[in-house]
This record gives sequence, structure tokens and C-alpha cells, in this order.
Amino acid sequence: MALKPDDMVCFCFHVRLRKIETFCRVEKPLHASQISDCLSAGTGCGWCRPMLKHIHLRICGEHIPDWRKSPEANIPEAVALKTDFLDALDVQNWAAGRQRHISEGHGKPPKDQ
Ligand code: FES
Repeated sequence: MALKPDDMVCFCFHVRLRKIETFCRVEKPLHASQISDCLSAGTGCGWCRPMLKHIHLRICGEHIPDWRKSPEANIPEAVALKTDFLDALDVQNWAAGRQRHISEGHGKPPKDQ
């Protein structure tokens, strides 16, 4: 089952998909890392950062600095491939994956959790 607006994306800071999508639509951050301005999403264990990148890409598109642009770049196809990730995601596997991520020592949740 795909992620729904009320599903949690960042478990460390309890940030839901709806909040992140709204932030992206309103603030239009150039880089996914700027989503951390939205209730600190992505600044804890790091599990949700790939998801934040996909959400950012889907809503804001890929920001390519002028110096990287070339006439041969096929950006629309690249974006389409990456946005399929969100539609195919299983919500329960997403939550369980974060527990594995932490237990395998890849990141630490904030101290209050
Ligand atoms: S789940 Fe988002 S930083 Fe840990």
C-alpha cells in the first residue's frame, strides 16, 4: 500500500507526508536537504532522507545548476523513473525498515525517543 498523506515519513520528528508535501509546494526548496527546515525532518537517524529526496523530486523537480545543464540531458525521463518509488512503497515495510536502519547502527534517533 502506497504512502498516504497522514502516514509518517520522519519518525524521529513525527513529520507526516502531508506536512512535507505542503512545505515543498509553498517553500519550493531548491534542495531536498532544505526540507529539514520543516520540523527538522531528516535530521535525526537519517532513515527518511531518501524518502525526502523522492518527495522533493516529485514536487519540486530536480534543480540543476546552470553549470551542469547540457542540451543532451533527458531530465523528464529521469524524474519519471524516480517518482515511481513513492507509488510502489509499502508503508509497513517503510516503518520496519527504519528500525532495521537504527539497529544496524546506520543512524541514531534523537535522544527523546
Ligand atoms: S526517521 Fe527521519 S531522521 Fe530519523
